[in-house]
Amino acid sequence: MHARRACKGPRAAWTTEERLFPATAAIIAAPLARCNSHESKKRVRALAAPPPFCYMSGAMPRYAITTFGCQMNVHDSERMHEVLRHAGYTESDDPRAADVVVLNTCSVREKAEQKLLSEVGRLAKWKQTHPEMVLVVAGCVAQQEGERLLTRSSGIDLVLGPDNIPELPRLLDDIGLGAPPLVRTVFDLEAPRFLTALSVAASAPTAFVTIMKGCNERCSFCIVPYTRGPERYRPSAELVAEIAGLVEAGVREVTLLGQTVNSYRDPSSELLRAPGASPDDPDESEFAALLRRIAAEVPGLVRLRYTSPHPRHLTPSLIEAHADLSVLARHVHLPVQSGSDRILKRMIRRYTRAEYVARVGSLVARLPDLSLSTDIIVGFPGETEDDFAATLSLVREVGFRGLFGFKYSQRPYTPARKLADDVPEAEKSERLARLFEVSEELLGAHLQGLVGSRQRVLVEGAGKEGTNAWSGRTERNEIVHVAGAEGLDLRGTIVEVVITRANKHSLQAELSDEARAAAKPLPVVPAAPVDAPKPRAAGERRSLPIVAAGGG
Ligand code: 5AD
Repeated sequence: MHARRACKGPRAAWTTEERLFPATAAIIAAPLARCNSHESKKRVRALAAPPPFCYMSGAMPRYAITTFGCQMNVHDSERMHEVLRHAGYTESDDPRAADVVVLNTCSVREKAEQKLLSEVGRLAKWKQTHPEMVLVVAGCVAQQEGERLLTRSSGIDLVLGPDNIPELPRLLDDIGLGAPPLVRTVFDLEAPRFLTALSVAASAPTAFVTIMKGCNERCSFCIVPYTRGPERYRPSAELVAEIAGLVEAGVREVTLLGQTVNSYRDPSSELLRAPGASPDDPDESEFAALLRRIAAEVPGLVRLRYTSPHPRHLTPSLIEAHADLSVLARHVHLPVQSGSDRILKRMIRRYTRAEYVARVGSLVARLPDLSLSTDIIVGFPGETEDDFAATLSLVREVGFRGLFGFKYSQRPYTPARKLADDVPEAEKSERLARLFEVSEELLGAHLQGLVGSRQRVLVEGAGKEGTNAWSGRTERNEIVHVAGAEGLDLRGTIVEVVITRANKHSLQAELSDEARAAAKPLPVVPAAPVDAPKPRAAGERRSLPIVAAGGG
């Protein structure tokens, strides 16, 4: 497969001479400069420029990745770390000291896309005085905009779709040899590739494992089917092997990832039908069967989470799995989007409010201590005050303990683009503020109710610098800061704590006496060499706070 060329200059092919001797090729290509096409001019500029980074000098090229957006993007960034390290690159904390700067983008809402473009602008300016820097735009905006990005923003060397991450080092090689700006945004429909991020993930007690990608839903507001393509799944045996490998390397908690994670089907048809599964139910999938297989075949796994499920696939088989498998965390993040049937219909969510409530009701009836969080969009086209009131009443009825709230943002290519974006911005902001007020009230009351209780916490890493504290999560996903553990190494352990105080979004706790007695002391670590890369904190990659502060 060849990289599709970004520049549609008069010559389609890129010769070996041009690749190997870009400066000479620039002379050959000089007549192109007379061409009026913007792309062609860009190509000539690229030809004339020196190879962008330091292969020639033999130094190890350095890279920096900035990630915008969801867990899937965070995971994709980990995969980029993996492929770049594998290809001999080293990580730099400072994009200005890096030879390759990757912006991994999100396009779910317009604000995220604008943030990316302003970052590209800033880096493009920097690049004017540092032309050797290679700027890569990856992720959903890259997939969505493709070649258009090259005309919208100058300075970009590579536009890379999420399915093309494995090709990153090769494409950087091409650029290093003087290739013009490249665009590579091809879905791997025939032979889906799921890169693992084993060595990165294994350095932390928690890890993400992608089980499927793409989305077959057609929610009218959502750009994901367009930026991530149709659903593709990983074989269950491969998933089990990867999770077993992670556990072997010290990972305690795994979060299964997918755009509609619970629509999973095993492409190798190896799973047994799960108890409660009904083959005639169009909402049935093989997700419950996968959870059962993981639980049975990786007994060393301490906690299993997943995100994000679609309410349609919260079928009886999945509820049975939650009831049976103690490894499943007592928390489900189940995006509802709205509490109004009229709006749910316009959103093409394919469930009603009553169906959502009934499904989570059956789950909670089996597991009364399970906590639920959700995603909500306010100000969807046509949303009236009554519709929004229905959303607020649903939040109270279900008793969500966390939510991500977003102002509706019209996205290209989505069906809802045909609807007038008729809720004024100020109204959207006001609704979002009211939504957060309710959710903070619910969370506050819940956290306050836990003061004085004993909880089991998986410690993910050190807490705030200079506090001697550790921090982790309960299985219901409450964030807990653990004090009273000076000199102890709690990382990756499950400890019992006593909750001493409720903060706005988290809990303060003391290590129980029993846990203190059982804990290992911190090892004495020799001072790190001055320029050694900083280890990444375990908690750094988690991105599901129990209450999201921002929206839209
Ligand atoms: N506008 C606002 N929020 C959106 N989301 C997805 N698309 C949009 C949009 N166009 C939100 C949904 C989804 C979450 C990941 O982002 O709530 O669950």
